[in-house]
Amino acid sequence: MSTITVIPGDGIGPEVVDSALRVLTALDLGLSIDVLDHVDANGYTPGSGALDDADLARISASSALLLGAIGRPDLDETDYTRSVLLRIRQEFDLYANHRPVRLWHDRLSPLRNAARRTIDCVIVRENTEGLYSGIGGSLRGFSPNEIAIDTDVNTWHGVSRIVDYAYTVARREVCLVDKANAVRNGGRLWQECRRRAAERNPRTISSHLYIDAAAMKLVTDPGCFDVILANNSYGDILSDLAAALAGGIGLAPSANLNPETTFGLFEPVHGSAPDIAGKGLANPFACLLTTALLVRHLGFTAAATAIETAVAESIAAERVTPDLGGRLSTQEVTRAVLAAL
Ligand code: NAD
Ligand code: IPM
Ligand code: MN
Repeated sequence: MSTITVIPGDGIGPEVVDSALRVLTALDLGLSIDVLDHVDANGYTPGSGALDDADLARISASSALLLGAIGRPDLDETDYTRSVLLRIRQEFDLYANHRPVRLWHDRLSPLRNAARRTIDCVIVRENTEGLYSGIGGSLRGFSPNEIAIDTDVNTWHGVSRIVDYAYTVARREVCLVDKANAVRNGGRLWQECRRRAAERNPRTISSHLYIDAAAMKLVTDPGCFDVILANNSYGDILSDLAAALAGGIGLAPSANLNPETTFGLFEPVHGSAPDIAGKGLANPFACLLTTALLVRHLGFTAAATAIETAVAESIAAERVTPDLGGRLSTQEVTRAVLAAL
């Protein structure tokens, strides 16, 4: 029997995870669920984090981890977030952040031009390097002479493996997005790894855009993208932009994967949304579509499709939370999805 570890986390995390667990229970896949409900902001100690070795051992013993959201703005955000989310990505070397973006219903697009609304792409985000490496420091803190440095780490190993992953999941095209015209060293490394991968994959179209132009193109012609390949920071930013074009952050799923070990951390793209937490306003679809990615990853293809179809039906019937223009609460939407299942 496969075990899934679950970290509900902070803010709306527990609300959307509750929805996911109800759906998983209804699907009756024979999965064992191990909930780490002490891993949250209340369990965080500055300097030592919110996740200990025993938690990591429980996660290691499982086939996949489902996480709601981590973050509480009154804390030292960097230390807390690094101690949970970024630590798990590093400990399990989850280098491929796979973020599919799909417009589930035309009315959800914010774009005025009906002919240019379709979006159906995957953001492949490098997930262990770049500006997230944690290498850096500062001198003469909080003075006019302060110097603050965060190092943008790009290794041949790290870049070549995420480039290869992008070509593995591409249906027709990989578009590398970077800022190589200004940020030279990392840019050159990415472009060379991409050039070699393009040679190995002649049937896939290989294209390139600078990040500023890519952001524009995403808004003016989102349908032109298949796989958008980006470093850690650019991938993070484009994820929220693309999610907004597909109806909003409340719909965006993601998988943090290590394709070699096959372990994965599955989490919605959104955060803990403190502004709406505890009010029943959280859209559970991002977490449910994330759960679909998780069960598909474990081999339950029909169950994954069933979740996606039930979400699509709920959207079509306008059984949705206020962020999608509806009036239903998180729990009412969950009941609609369960009924559709
Ligand atoms: P956020 O994604 O939490 O919220 C941005 C906006 O989107 C808010 O207005 C929020 O109400 C709305 N929103 C988000 N998810 C929604 C949902 N499911 N349904 C309806 N509306 C939704 O981003 P933020 O405000 O920048 O960050 C809040 C906290 O979350 C911070 O502590 C941040 O560090 C953390 N964060 C965590 C993760 C994660 O755990 N994976 C991701 C992003 C941000
Ligand atoms: C995400 C989040 C995280 C990230 C934050 C919370 C560190 O925004 O998963 O997209 O930037 O990776
Ligand atoms: Mn993000």
